[in-house]
Parts: sequence; structure tokens; C-alpha cells
Amino acid sequence: MVLSLFKSSGAPDIYLDLGTMNTRLVIKNRGLVVNEPSVIAFTTGRHGKKNIIAVGNEAIEQVNKTPGNLFLGRPLKEGVITDVDTTETMIRSFLSRPGISHWLTRPRIIMSIPHGIKKIEKEAVVYAGRAAGARDVILAEEPMVAAIGAQLPIQEPKGRMIIDFGGGTSEIAIIALSDIVYCQTLRTGGQQLNEGIVQWLKKYKNAIISEASAELLKVDIGSTSPISEVQVRRVQARNATSGLPMELEVNSTEISMAIQDCVEDLVFGIKKALENTPPELLSDIIDSGIVLTGGGSLLKNIDRYIQDQIKISVHRTNDPLTTIAKGGEILLNSPALLDSIQLPIEEDTEPTARRSQFY
Ligand SMILES: Nc1ncnc2c1ncn2[C@@H]1O[C@H](COP(=O)(O)OP(=O)(O)OP(=O)(O)O)[C@@H](O)[C@H]1O
Ligand SMILES: [Mg+2]
Repeated sequence: MVLSLFKSSGAPDIYLDLGTMNTRLVIKNRGLVVNEPSVIAFTTGRHGKKNIIAVGNEAIEQVNKTPGNLFLGRPLKEGVITDVDTTETMIRSFLSRPGISHWLTRPRIIMSIPHGIKKIEKEAVVYAGRAAGARDVILAEEPMVAAIGAQLPIQEPKGRMIIDFGGGTSEIAIIALSDIVYCQTLRTGGQQLNEGIVQWLKKYKNAIISEASAELLKVDIGSTSPISEVQVRRVQARNATSGLPMELEVNSTEISMAIQDCVEDLVFGIKKALENTPPELLSDIIDSGIVLTGGGSLLKNIDRYIQDQIKISVHRTNDPLTTIAKGGEILLNSPALLDSIQLPIEEDTEPTARRSQFY
């Protein structure tokens, strides 16, 4: 496979953020047109072939209507594509939505990818974008796009730290002179917090709850440290020993304990990043503070908790779920900025291996 330092030419029409949990699609001069879960609903045909019935919000609605016949699948895991064909179908479906498709024929797409992913994972993104109808795919790194969306002056010779606490990963990046000087990607995101809740309740309350219930509990009463007024919720569960259904009472202190390990992993990663930061950039970061974004940053008190642990101020972006989309929108309108941060891509579009399985 030839690695040419090819850079796409021509103005892009779309920015696409393929997140582990959510997909955002921004059209130039129109803004954010899709902000939906990165999921598909499928049936299993003969020989185990998956027939995709719906994607995004519609997929969740369909599965809720007919559970048992339809299944939900996620074509991305920890920020990277695990099923190229399904990802292609998902992108194609988003692009063909009413009000979007007539706007675009064979668009040029900016797609963001996690920093430092493997060549094969990068190829999968380019392939999926092109196979879904893109004339051209331009790659940008997620922490960079997030920093642009957070209005950080990335071109300055000063060090800035941005943390994208996402659904499947967290990226802790230091940016200076339009370059990612350092980046650490952790397998700690919203999904891992949910898993932490499921496992904790199984271990300490002998109860099994669904991942969806864990998500609801986390968003509703989750917090990094126990809040003064304990909140209590009831959820449907199954007794882990008998398998019988039960109603489980869970409180906010228990959720804090359940997610504690994941939160500590994140804090540890941030400390490690700071240790690896050259001293001159470190003093810039201490002066300007750290920017926190991504859906995970909506966890109650997480900004304050990190700040207390590392003794550097932490600012959460205004709308962490769409900060990266804002960055994409800026890039669609700033060719020079895009040119300064876009990545070279391989000119071979067929991924060398495809994994076709859901997890
Ligand atoms: N209020 C909230 N409290 C805690 N977590 C939240 C809240 N709102 C959303 N989240 C979490 O944010 C995560 C989604 O964030 P985001 O959309 O940034 O991820 P993503 O871009 O899909 O993932 P990645 O960037 O890791 O590939 C979900 O795991 C969700 O549980
Ligand atoms: Mg993301």
C-alpha cells in the first residue's frame, strides 16, 4: 500500500463526527443537521446476515416498539470503527435524510478521528466515508476540532490542554502552534462509567440492571463525589442469583462509588499528561487552565473534582455534546485553518481487513 502525502483539494461541504455514542453532521452554511446516537437496528437473516432496518433515533424507537425481533448494534467501539459496512450504511442513511440529500451530491466530507489511531483504523474511516457517497474525505483529529470548537487559540505558540471526555474514550491533548504536541487516549468514557455502575450493583446489591438503566441513573443522579442531599431512585432489575425480576433502590452515593474507579483513571491520565508536558508549555496551561468537553463532562461535579485533584483550573465548554460540531462548522468556513490541521491520508481506500461483528 502506497502512503502518499496526499491532501484533499476543494472546499468541503460537510463535517462528520463519528462518535462511539453519537454522530454529528454539520452542513456548511446550514449548521448541525444530525445529532443522533451511532446505532443501527437490525434483524438477523439466514446465515447470520444482518439486515439494517433503521439508524440513529429511529433505530432506538423501532427497537423499543418491537423488542425481541430487532436488535441494536453500534458500529464503533472506543472511538474506532469495528464494522466498516455497517458504518457505511449508517453514514449513507444519515446523508439521505429528507432535507439533507437534496442538498448534497457526492459531498466532500471532513471526518474527525481520534489521535494516534492505527493505519487500518484510519483507512476504515476513509473507506466508510467514500463508500457512503463522499467524493472526497478530509481527515482531522478530534482533539484539534474540539479545541477549535472551544475557541482555543490553537495557532498561538502557547500550550493549551483540552480533554474530550467522550462516550467510549477520553482524549487528553496538549496543543500548540496548530499541532498536537502530546495526546493520551484513555479507554475511559461514558460507556465505561455505565459498565462500572452495572458491575457495582451486581457485586454489592446482587442485582443486574441494563446498560440503558445505568445510563439513566448516571445522568440523573451520578456525581463524582457524594452530594450532600442523597437522591434515591428505583429501577427495574433482576436478582443475580435467582434471575427473578425485582425493583431495586439505588442512591446517588452508590452511583458515586460505582463510577469512582473510572473517574480516578481519568484523573490519573491527566496527571500523567501534565508530567509529560514540557515545562514551558506547562506554565501556559497553568495560566490558561484546562478545557473539558465531550458528553462525559456533563457528569455532575467532574470539572470541580478534576480541578481539586490537579490544582489547575478546569473550564467546561458551554455545550460539551456539540463543541466538536462547532469546531467542524468553523473548519467548513476556514480553508486556511483546515489546511493547517488536516491529516495526510492514504490513497488506497479499501481497508486491508474488516471486522464484521458487533460487540
Ligand atoms: N448529564 C450527563 N452526565 C453524565 N454523562 C453524560 C451526560 N450526558 C451525556 N453523557 C454521556 O456522554 C457520552 C456521550 O458523549 P459524546 O457524545 O461526547 O461521545 P462520543 O463523541 O459519541 O464518543 P467518543 O468521542 O468517545 O467516540 C455518553 O456516554 C453519555 O452517557
Ligand atoms: Mg466524541
